[in-house]
Amino acid sequence: MTNSIITGWGKCLPPTVLTNHDLESLVDTNDDWITSRTGIKERRISHVGTAELATLAGKRALAAAGIEATDVDLVSVATCTPDMLIPSAASLVQDALGATNAGAIDQNAACSGFLYGLITASGMVQAGVIDTALVVGAERLTYFIDFTDRGTAVLFGDGAGAVVVQATDEPGGLKASDMGSDGSVANILWAPGSGTATNRMELQRNHHLQAIAMNGPEVFKRAVKAMGDSAADVVAKAGWDLDDVDLLIPHQANVRIIDATARRLQLDPAKVFVNIASYGNTSAATIPIALTEALESRRVTPGAKIVFAAFGAGLSWAAAAWEFGSRVEPLGTTDEELPPTDGNVMTLLADNFAYYGGGPAT
Ligand code: ACO
Repeated sequence: MTNSIITGWGKCLPPTVLTNHDLESLVDTNDDWITSRTGIKERRISHVGTAELATLAGKRALAAAGIEATDVDLVSVATCTPDMLIPSAASLVQDALGATNAGAIDQNAACSGFLYGLITASGMVQAGVIDTALVVGAERLTYFIDFTDRGTAVLFGDGAGAVVVQATDEPGGLKASDMGSDGSVANILWAPGSGTATNRMELQRNHHLQAIAMNGPEVFKRAVKAMGDSAADVVAKAGWDLDDVDLLIPHQANVRIIDATARRLQLDPAKVFVNIASYGNTSAATIPIALTEALESRRVTPGAKIVFAAFGAGLSWAAAAWEFGSRVEPLGTTDEELPPTDGNVMTLLADNFAYYGGGPAT
């Protein structure tokens, strides 16, 4: 069987920062609570759409792989916050990249979406169906955040990350995977007014219906169990000992969930990649952003045995045992950037305040 390795990686974080101190002026919370209960210090708010974030992350991943957009057979975008329902975010990204030989598909498994995309694209490469895929996780979650709800307002941020997966004879790539779902408790994390089940008159009366709503403690309990079980499952399926694992790159939702997953794998904290302080929970984007930063900071060594694990709305979860290839340096870079913004976070959020209510205390 052909192997599928990651040959390129990239991220796109919009520049505007919403700090915990900024949130203190929006909702009844404080930096100490947010830091100790979640590990988050700040998050990014995007001034561009999801597809634009995804496209720039994709361009950076293609440059790192040293390939052209026309070499890509499949553009897979994991997102639960696309610019629009039709067409897919992936088609917008395919066009913006000039990936004229690629098919394009969105995958919505919320925070687990990137791993669903990585596992399915790698499976297609291993089966010989395609040679090269661009797998993106991109979100503009803050569009759906009601900043009067302190249970969600402090958690989420915007961003995108991407990898290029390519066929190779070199050893490495996907060694084992696990994907799961439990839709019976879908309503503990949802945005119920965001689809065709919505009564439009009801939505007109109650805009809060469209915001992301969550029963935090219920999600927390299930996340700890599902991420830990799924991660342990792929280590066993890959035939690895726990000692073999070089790095855990978990979904960044809450540092306490990450710590519990690491404990389940009996991992030394030095083997766990955590960047939640800077970006919060960017849903499908957290893992490709974290992988990119792990490579940039030389935490990924040639042939490294990596465990990816994620959990999110659905409920959904996934994990992968992944052996990195021999190249951990990018082949190239691009100097493209997002269009400029004045960076005033409260101005950027003015639409949210107008729609859902709230805004800075004066
Ligand atoms: N600031 C200050 N106090 C707060 C805040 C806040 N932002 N939020 C809640 N509190 C208060 C509560 O009101 C409660 O006060 P009380 O004891 O007086 O009633 C107290 O803090 C404890 O509240 P809990 O909700 O029990 O706090 P918990 O420790 O569970 O932390 C949190 C809440 C951070 C949301 C946690 O439950 C969590 O991380 N859940 C998982 C979220 C997640 O993983 N989502 C992943 C998927 S996202 C996706 O798929 C798109």
